[in-house]
Amino acid sequence: MRKKIVAGNWKMNLLDEEVINFIVDFNSRKNEIESDSEIIILPASIYLDTMISMPDWDIKIGAQNCSQFNNGAYTGEISAAMLRDFDYDSENLHYCLVGHSERREYFNEQNDVLAEKVNRLIENGLKPIYCCGEELQHRESESHFDWVQAQIEEGLFHLKEEELKQVVIAYEPVWAIGTGKTATSNQAQEMHAFIRSLIAKKYGDSTANSISILYGGSCKPENASELFDQPDIDGGLIGGASLKVDSFIQIINSF
Ligand code: PGA
Repeated sequence: MRKKIVAGNWKMNLLDEEVINFIVDFNSRKNEIESDSEIIILPASIYLDTMISMPDWDIKIGAQNCSQFNNGAYTGEISAAMLRDFDYDSENLHYCLVGHSERREYFNEQNDVLAEKVNRLIENGLKPIYCCGEELQHRESESHFDWVQAQIEEGLFHLKEEELKQVVIAYEPVWAIGTGKTATSNQAQEMHAFIRSLIAKKYGDSTANSISILYGGSCKPENASELFDQPDIDGGLIGGASLKVDSFIQIINSF
């Protein structure tokens, strides 16, 4: 059985008071959650501490980025070891995004650097949520499968089987992120099945069937059920709609 996951990527949104209000509101409405999916929130790193320290907060937490280096003269960076160290006692911080399309586009992160970030996280006992997805031009020129294949192979396929099993994959077509345009459930299912087939070819069916692949890109309460009903879609990476308790809970309950 693959883990069902709903992860909220808060990006560079919400200040401390808003983070606290979200948590208090979410906690007071926990009885509305009808799904057994794993719930993750990925706040800005500076608020990880606020989130970890909140009482009764048993939702999993993740960072949005980490350095590809272990330590050293890399001003402004946060290492995977620091993330691990940060939460050593409470063990709530389990995940870190790698290769979100905004990191690829605005910070020029390429597959080889992302492969190093994946390595640092796994070495430090954290689970990478590895993002992939094509831009509109790739889909229009029908090179979207090749593009995603290269992202998966170059970012992940150096891993040993046991290491790959620590990874969650998020397929996010770039043209659907924050645009209100969602991939149809057929388009999303087709790409998820393709990604799973790549893993099966390299690592075998049992590994391929154990890895959760999330869909991201304008996922909202209105379309989440149809997406989550697809056989190879194991949950969602939610941006805008995860910033409001109401819509986030509705998406969680779409399973
Ligand atoms: P969106 O973002 O749901 O706002 O489209 C998804 C993401 O970027 O992870």
